[in-house]
Amino acid sequence: MTEAAAPVPVAGVAMTAIGIAVVRARETERADRLYSDPFAQWFVDAAKPSFAERWDQLTPVLDLFYPARTVAVRLVDDRVEVAVREGIRQIVVFGAGLDTRAFRMDLPAETRLFEVDLPETFAFKEPVLTRGGATPRCERHVLPVDLRDDWAQALPAQGFRPEEPTLWVDEGVLGYLHRPDARRVLTTLDELSAPGSRFDLSSFAVDPNSGAFLALRRLVSGADAGEPEAAGLGADIEEWLHEHGWDTSYQTWAEQAASVGRPDTDGGPETRTIAAIRR
Ligand SMILES: C[S@@+](CC[C@H](N)C(=O)[O-])C[C@H]1O[C@@H](n2cnc3c(N)ncnc32)[C@H](O)[C@@H]1O
Repeated sequence: MTEAAAPVPVAGVAMTAIGIAVVRARETERADRLYSDPFAQWFVDAAKPSFAERWDQLTPVLDLFYPARTVAVRLVDDRVEVAVREGIRQIVVFGAGLDTRAFRMDLPAETRLFEVDLPETFAFKEPVLTRGGATPRCERHVLPVDLRDDWAQALPAQGFRPEEPTLWVDEGVLGYLHRPDARRVLTTLDELSAPGSRFDLSSFAVDPNSGAFLALRRLVSGADAGEPEAAGLGADIEEWLHEHGWDTSYQTWAEQAASVGRPDTDGGPETRTIAAIRR
């Protein structure tokens, strides 16, 4: 294996995907695992040497995030499974990072799964998968774009069909985009959603000054991470969705963690997932 073929994102937001790969590799080793991702360790092995001693700074931050993030991976797996069972064959994952659902989940071969993430993420991800000989089990499409730009223009050429219902997955990115950028993504998603489309969004009661988030920002942005700006879709998101033709329901984080047999680790009743379905 020649590690030089996969440029490792050792800084910036793309490196958070490496962190989640570590989370998935850790979970995969557990006897009581919530999912199995055999590819996660490939990414960890390919990335670790480039971090050198900084790898040791990553570990304590991941310890803080592991319990909730690993549950979140499983919850997305469950949503994908349910959507596919109910006939959805088009899935778009925002902030797909080093996720490998197209390879590890038993999806119908005709499912079109679109992974949206930054170019530097795929510059690392694709060579690792190719070198390992990974084969997707459904139609996999990669969109190396910045969600703050016109990300949707790449979709039609890749076979996206706006007339069919879509499962939209926000996997850990919209909550961190500045509010106007996150809202623009939502507006576009809304325009591209046929009736029956689904969008599950997490509404975390994040304290941007908590120890875990300060440690993460410091790791990603360097010592002086600056003041956090208003991020994510905002508290009035449910109202917006109703006005734009979406029905919503929600579950608290505690309910969701309990549904997969893990303790509630992340916030109180304000932390919840909103499930939206297009009328
Ligand atoms: C916390 S990671 C989640 C990774 C992935 N969902 C997983 O479970 O492995 C957030 C991801 O969002 C991506 N991201 C951050 N800002 C982005 C942007 N402006 N446009 C596209 N992707 C972005 C990062 O590159 C990273 O892969």
